[in-house]
Amino acid sequence: MSKKSKKKEKRYNHLKEMAKLTRLMKEMYERGQSELCEVRNSEIHGRGVYAAADIPKETKVIEYLGEYIDKDESEERAWAQAAKAEESGDAAVYIFTLDDKWDIDGNVPWNDARLINHSCDPNCEAWIEEDEIFIYSLREIKKGEELTFDYGFDVDCYEDHPCRCGSDKCIGYIVSQEQWSELKERISKLEEKVEN
Ligand SMILES: C[S@@+](CC[C@H](N)C(=O)[O-])C[C@H]1O[C@@H](n2cnc3c(N)ncnc32)[C@H](O)[C@@H]1O
Ligand SMILES: [Zn+2]
Repeated sequence: MSKKSKKKEKRYNHLKEMAKLTRLMKEMYERGQSELCEVRNSEIHGRGVYAAADIPKETKVIEYLGEYIDKDESEERAWAQAAKAEESGDAAVYIFTLDDKWDIDGNVPWNDARLINHSCDPNCEAWIEEDEIFIYSLREIKKGEELTFDYGFDVDCYEDHPCRCGSDKCIGYIVSQEQWSELKERISKLEEKVEN
């Protein structure tokens, strides 16, 4: 093969690869969208995800897409995120536990579900199906309502995550509902200390 045709072949292969990648990206962006919801500015925080139609109870609303990472990588990223949070005050965490070996880091631009905010009275929940994560409605959701789920953060770092969900049930901090009794105990002990 001549030098000229080798160069031509190289260029052709490169463009073929680029076309394949572009198709894949398009596919991922389409998969990360749902007719049932849309991204808008949120009253809770930054951007949020809102119901674009009435959604019945226990409906699959949107997939939570991301990068599959093992536990070592996940721990490294969690430390990096914590360091960044300390520096900038931006505490966004996108890592979901998939099983005892793998996690999903949802911090990819085609994952609209990463923008769903936390609420102390959530209307959605994340369910794992096989190796994929989906956001399901917990109850009937009216068009225009903001979608939320329980981030399930640990009570040990509650002070780092004040909650602004605005619901009547708001406990004041982004903490897993399973740990609310522990949280209430810790807060009342602190209040006792201040009073004495
Ligand atoms: C995964 S992001 C959610 C999308 C976010 N609103 C944005 O615009 O990037 C998670 C971050 O949003 C903020 N957030 C989510 N729910 C919140 C809430 N109920 N109260 C206060 N901040 C919240 C916190 O900073 C949290 O670390
Ligand atoms: Zn709240």
